[in-house]
Amino acid sequence: EAFDVVVVGSCMTDLVSQAPRLPKAGETIHGHKFFIGFGGKGANQCIQAARMGAKTAMVCKVGKDFFGENYIQNFKDNGVSTEFVGQTVDSATGAASIIVNDAGENAIVIVAGANLLLGGEDLRRALPALSRAKVMVCQLEVSPDTSLQALRLSHENNVKTIFNPAPAIPVLDPEFYRASDVFCCNESEAELLTGVAVASIEDAGRAGQELLRRGCSSVIITLGSRGCVVLSAQEPSSPSHHVPTKPVTTVDTTGAGDSFIGALAFYMAHFPTMSLEEMARRANQVAGVSVQTIGTQASYPSKKDLPTGLF
Ligand code: RIB
Ligand code: NA
Repeated sequence: EAFDVVVVGSCMTDLVSQAPRLPKAGETIHGHKFFIGFGGKGANQCIQAARMGAKTAMVCKVGKDFFGENYIQNFKDNGVSTEFVGQTVDSATGAASIIVNDAGENAIVIVAGANLLLGGEDLRRALPALSRAKVMVCQLEVSPDTSLQALRLSHENNVKTIFNPAPAIPVLDPEFYRASDVFCCNESEAELLTGVAVASIEDAGRAGQELLRRGCSSVIITLGSRGCVVLSAQEPSSPSHHVPTKPVTTVDTTGAGDSFIGALAFYMAHFPTMSLEEMARRANQVAGVSVQTIGTQASYPSKKDLPTGLF
């Protein structure tokens, strides 16, 4: 079976509290709503790609517990292949404690748990799918070694790779850059990796040039409501291209970056000759829908909810 998009990455149960503001250290505040949702950057990206119509598989690990069982059902409900979803008794399903303030901003603590047990053996089992996928996507909520192996395997098999270095770590093995067809991060991740303070679109362009210099084929730096910048090694001397977004009313930005990446993976698989800027423009629009509703995956649109011009 050949998949459009294979994601090697994380699953987390999101435990979300909505509160007027984020609490300070040592402080207790009243929130107004609590809910549990499906999250984790890897799974979020996979679900968004699937909802747009990509044939997807997830390579991940959950616990042999209630949250793990539930998560597997969630993949099935969204048409994601669970052939490579492992379950372990040695650790619990990953969990994310999330607080969302009234401005739609968030603070998150993740306990990766079972995600950290995803390893080389799991990748070997998924190799038939990994080597024939159109696009492979990974992040940094599983062990970085596992992500790097997945990137290396995909690269060797001419599978297009999207690497999302999130959550950010200051020092990445240089091979991460060389194995990334599209290196996609947000402004704070770009800043941490390059040391370039990213406050403006021009700064993002400069940080992007540095990431290109490290060996990625192309770079996208997402800038929230300001859209993103796109750079390509094919035209290294040309300035970065800024792709703006239309203004929307923001309720919850949690997982908006994942919605963007999932949509991007769909476009790379389904429209391989489309320019990266056009893909980014459309992915911005998809992510823009997700920020207008509370929740992570709960807010991700399906093909039927989106304008036909996006397909
Ligand atoms: O990117 C958003 C995600 O980050 C949330 O769903 C949470 O699970 C954390 O992993
Ligand atoms: Na949302």
